[in-house]
Amino acid sequence: MKRTKVNEMKVIFDSKSENESLARYICAAFCAVFDPTVEALADVKCTVSEAVTNCVVHAYKDTVGKIYMTLKAYNDSSVSISIRDKGCGIEDTKQAREPLFTTDLAGERSGMGFPIMESLSERFSLKSKPGVGTQVSMSFKLDKNTKG
Ligand SMILES: Nc1ncnc2c1ncn2[C@@H]1O[C@H](COP(=O)(O)OP(=O)(O)OP(=O)(O)O)[C@@H](O)[C@H]1O
Ligand SMILES: [Mg+2]
Repeated sequence: MKRTKVNEMKVIFDSKSENESLARYICAAFCAVFDPTVEALADVKCTVSEAVTNCVVHAYKDTVGKIYMTLKAYNDSSVSISIRDKGCGIEDTKQAREPLFTTDLAGERSGMGFPIMESLSERFSLKSKPGVGTQVSMSFKLDKNTKG
């Protein structure tokens, strides 16, 4: 079966913490058509939360900018989610992905956002350019018959 896109949605919202739950609910609702398990949906919501939080607290640290979220659904019951910002960007993405790496000096962050996103998604990619922005792309298999 050729993998084809069956649905697409783009949402742009402000990097405000109150929009984190909104982004989570939008993604969960978008996935609902595949009748995912509670666990699979929890994984999607958790990773989206981590990615959006990063835009709020790191990308647009002392300011408010736009977060661009793109959702795509495919005929194989998979969903891809990309979360992009035009914030400060990341110098070293390899280092940023390491468990416990954080630039937060206040001790409020644990440096586990990217490792969590990586482990809960089927596919994960991180692209970033200092001064330009960051894009996190993840995909999820939501078919109940497969590990999700
Ligand atoms: N969207 C982003 N823009 C700029 N820098 C980012 C972005 N996302 C992550 N980073 C950088 O990558 C580091 C690692 O991110 P990660 O989400 O793994 O940990 P954290 O946000 O510091 O802590 P936690 O997610 O556990 O609260 C961050 O400390 C930050 O320096
Ligand atoms: Mg984080």
